[in-house]
Parts: sequence; structure tokens; C-alpha cells
Amino acid sequence: MKPVKIGVLGLGTVGGGTVNVLKRNAKEISRRAGREIIITRASARDLTLDRLCDTQGITLSTYPYDVINDPEIDIILELIGGTDLAKELVLQAIANGKHVVTANKALICLHGNEIFAAANKVNVMIAYEAAVAGGIPIIKAIREGLSGNQINWIAGIINGTGNFILTEMRDKGREFADALREAQALGYAEANPTFDVEGIDAGHKLMILASIAFGIPLQFENVYTEGITKITREDIEYATNLGYSIKHLGIARKTSKGIELRVHPTLIPQRRLIANVDGVMNAVLVHADAVGPTLYYGAGAGSEATASAVVADVVDVARALTLHSKNRVPHLAFQEDAIADLHILPQDEVETAYYLRLMVEDKPGALAQITHIFAEQNISIEAVLQKEAPEEQTILPLIMLTQKTIEREMNAAIAAIENLSSVTGQVTRIRLETLG
Ligand code: HSE
Repeated sequence: MKPVKIGVLGLGTVGGGTVNVLKRNAKEISRRAGREIIITRASARDLTLDRLCDTQGITLSTYPYDVINDPEIDIILELIGGTDLAKELVLQAIANGKHVVTANKALICLHGNEIFAAANKVNVMIAYEAAVAGGIPIIKAIREGLSGNQINWIAGIINGTGNFILTEMRDKGREFADALREAQALGYAEANPTFDVEGIDAGHKLMILASIAFGIPLQFENVYTEGITKITREDIEYATNLGYSIKHLGIARKTSKGIELRVHPTLIPQRRLIANVDGVMNAVLVHADAVGPTLYYGAGAGSEATASAVVADVVDVARALTLHSKNRVPHLAFQEDAIADLHILPQDEVETAYYLRLMVEDKPGALAQITHIFAEQNISIEAVLQKEAPEEQTILPLIMLTQKTIEREMNAAIAAIENLSSVTGQVTRIRLETLG
């Protein structure tokens, strides 16, 4: 059979890794794909850079249209990131009849509905395994491996940079900014690291997972995101003492009232496997009705780990080139006409348990005032932790764990507590999930 010809857009961390993997494992890959896969063209912004990949035999250009307009090319690998130029190039590649493999979560999350519709019209495939959790084949697992199930919920550590930072803060007592700098130097962080630490990157990935799990359109505007920048070493220590890890989780859950889509720091019991996923590693826990819980673990970022997913997509596309489009795996797992616009639950209607840290004056009745507010809001307390005060100290941290409550009621309780004269400053609130 004729070789499949590939054009690569972007020779950075992921593009370079992909070239290396495709070249190094060419024989094994063609044994799997049933035909040879060769990169014929690539584009990069600056061709004078010393690259960590071998571009011998590849025609290079600084102009990406040289790649997407080459009539010989079957599959375009979009590995430039960002959403403006990337979207323009992907839509043009589709219009040119090319299949596209991308690692771009922002692009798929924000423009996927439009891109998939354009691709379906001209019967080309868009593959995006590398967009979520780097090298973990989580798209394949949910879209194909679990297709006999109703998926109940997904909880994932899907940003390596954030997980690396939280792990370094806990294990080495490092400052947030210092750990972030190292994640950037190691090539894990986004071009704009705010995306990592504020939960935007995880939100993009969560939205993609939720779409293929529940058959809903991509809609990032309905994902609640909260970052890890306010997590302190003290909170990590208190959580540890209470038997919990703090992880930046993306949670998508189907409830009788609607679908929850949320990214926020979360206390998880240390006994859960996912609570022990550290450093840059990612993990996704999927709870489905027939199989129960399944856990997927691996490198969520990095050059060749991400390339592994890109190349797997290339092989899938190469195998499916001769298939009629109706027999291909649908882009969002469910058939295009079966995607349903289900209700997304606003964050203040979400039900979860909480960890709270309050700075409280050490005087009789202070705790009673606080518990009275909880009783008024129908919030049940699970545990309270307060250490004995050193003589000179009059303001002390009070740590409370609550049972599940509706977020609106917790917001009201927190506002009332912050108004008490015996409470200083703002209440720190971290959601808690048992993931049982
Ligand atoms: N910045 C991302 C992360 C890279 O840290 O997980 C992979 O998407």
C-alpha cells in the first residue's frame, strides 16, 4: 500500500517529540498501521533554532500553508498550540481534504463543535488523543473502551504543572513560584502558565472528557474553574493530618438535576489511589455503571509522552482512511445527531463536602457562634481541629470538615461567619470529595 504522508505544523516540544518517535519507531509503527508513515513536510516559526529532533528528509518551511496546501499530504499534525492561527490552519486543512491530528486542548474545547461539523461535511477525521492527559489514552478508553456503559462521573488530575507544584509544596516545602518556574523549565507549563495554575487548561481538558462521556456539546463557558494559587503550605499540612491530599481536580458528574463541570482544589482521602498521583503525572478516574471505577495513570505532559498519543492517533487515522465515515468512531463518541444539550448545573447548585480554615479569636462562645450559623444553613459538621493556643496567641486557626451541602448554603454560611467579630479575615474553603 502507498505510504501515508504526514505534514507537521510546529516543531516545538510536542512537534519535535513526534518527529523523533515517528522516525525511531517507524518499522514497528508501520507493522501496526499496515503501511509506511512518513513525514514529508514540516513548518516552524524559526528554522534557525537548534532542534532536538532529526529533520533530515523533511522539507522545512516557516510558512504553514506550504504544508497544508501540499496535495501529497494525507494527515496534518497541528502542534503549534494557541487558538487563532491554529483554528485557521485546521479549518483550511479540512477544506483541503486533509485529516488532522492535534494536541491542542484549547482549540478542541473552544472550537471543536465548529471543527467537527466542518470535518464531518467533507468526511475527514480530527483526532485529539494528545489534547487530554498527554500520553494517557483516555479519549480512546472513554470513547471506545467504555462505550457499553453509562458514565456516572469523571475525576481527573489533568494538569501536570499544577500537580507538580502541589507535590513540591507538600514534599519539599517549596514556594509556589519557585516550583512553577521549574515546571516551566521542564517544558510542562503552557505558554501562559496562568492557564495551568488557574485551572483553565484543566477546564479545557475536562470539557472534552465530559463531552465524550455524556454526549454533550463542548461549552467551556459552563465550566467552573478555580485555581491553586491560594493554597497554602498550612492547608496542605492540615489536610495531611486529617488523612487527605489536596489535588487540583477536574470533576464532571451526571446528577439527576444536571451535569456538574468543575475544576478546583479538592481534598481527597489519602486511601484513594488517585490521591497518590504525584509530580507531573496525571490520572483520570472514571466511574461507569457496568464496569464500576477504572483509573488511568501516566505522564500528562512532556515531549515524547505527548508524542506517544499523537502517533497513536496517526496510526488510527491511517487505518481508518479506507473506512466509510459512518463506520468511523464519532468525534465526540456519540453520533453527531445524538449529541444532546443536557442541563449544566450552576456551581452554586453543586453538592459537595468542604474543608474550612477560619482564624478565630480564642474566647468562650466563639465556636458556638460558628456552629449556630451552620445549624441555620442546615450544614452538618464532620470534624473539627483546633490546636491548643500558645500563651501569647489569641487568634487561632480552626479547621472544620463538613458533610455534603449545597454550595449556595455554604456561601451564605461563609458570608455570615466572616461577619462575626470573633473571626478574622476570609474563610479558606476547599471542596472535599470522597470519590467513593
Ligand atoms: N501544561 C499542561 C500540563 C501540558 O501541565 O499538564 C499538557 O497539556
